[in-house]
Amino acid sequence: MTTPLQLTLTRPDDWHLHLRDGEALAAVLPHTARQFARAVIMPNLKPPVTTTALAMEYRARILAALPRGLDFEPLMTLYLTDVTSPQEIQAAAAAGVVACKLYPSGATTNSDSGVTRIELIYPVLDAMQRHGLLLLIHAEVTDPQVDLFDREAVFIERHMKPLRAHFPELNIVFEHITTQDAVQFVQSQAIHTAATLTANHLLLNRNAIFVGGVRPHYYCLPVLKREHHRLALLAAATSADPRFFLGTDSAPHAVHLKEHACGCAGCYTAASAMELYAQAFESVQALDKLEGFAAHFGADFYGLPRNQGTLTLRRESWQLPQSYPYGKDLLTPLFAKEHLPWRVVTE
Ligand code: NCD
Ligand code: ZN
Ligand code: ZN
Repeated sequence: MTTPLQLTLTRPDDWHLHLRDGEALAAVLPHTARQFARAVIMPNLKPPVTTTALAMEYRARILAALPRGLDFEPLMTLYLTDVTSPQEIQAAAAAGVVACKLYPSGATTNSDSGVTRIELIYPVLDAMQRHGLLLLIHAEVTDPQVDLFDREAVFIERHMKPLRAHFPELNIVFEHITTQDAVQFVQSQAIHTAATLTANHLLLNRNAIFVGGVRPHYYCLPVLKREHHRLALLAAATSADPRFFLGTDSAPHAVHLKEHACGCAGCYTAASAMELYAQAFESVQALDKLEGFAAHFGADFYGLPRNQGTLTLRRESWQLPQSYPYGKDLLTPLFAKEHLPWRVVTE
């Protein structure tokens, strides 16, 4: 297949996004809204978005921060804790919250208030299944005995399989999958199970973290894995299987907190998201599969209409900046100063 010079797709959605709050929110939101019509907004703020009321307030702050002329819909989520109540789920569903996020306590950024034992929230999961809210999972065990690179695979055995057995009709999104094991698990489930894939995990393997020294901007959770895992993820993303769809997991952190003795986990990709996915799909001659992955399958799984508008990418090299303003700080994107082959056309 010869590479087209221009590619027009149904306007895509981002099914896993961190927008933060305050000045940080104002700094990053335009990057996402320029490309995506909707995004599922992660609730791991400080303090976390644990109630419907907090989710509605956060939604209003996002809409207030949206520059005039950009059309974008935030899809809100609740952060599950050990004490989330089934009544809260009913209220959330009534208010239009689309999903709840399960962070095993301590698994990732701002997950301290997360769930300590999944069995504790079984009544909540039951309510979610009844009210049609999706369960989004950061699927890594937190057991310090388990090697960091194995935490996703072990989570499948210890938690995903029991969860699937207990709640066969709950729609579960296995977020930001990073392993062949996760691909195979999702493929093994007939319905109600899907996965999001980040551009970073489609483009990079774990060597990227250590090229010539430790590179904090390549550190995210779940951490990048071996090349054979990356190839399995890329094959899944480009397979036109509707269980695999786009979720950037764009996760901004101020540069001084990334370039630090104990650097934060998270890669900032929102400013070049569709460009990076196009690059990944082109690497396996699968640009014709990008539209389904980026614009159709996620909406279908969430039971939402597909978007009406379009987004155009052009094969035109451009250079990512060293950093973006981020409130009083700076934000370094993944691939800072590198040239990307695709560019979103913004008229
Ligand atoms: C995310 C963040 O910074 O909020 N970090 C990350 O490395 N992915 C949290 C998450 O999605 O796990
Ligand atoms: Zn996560
Ligand atoms: Zn995330």
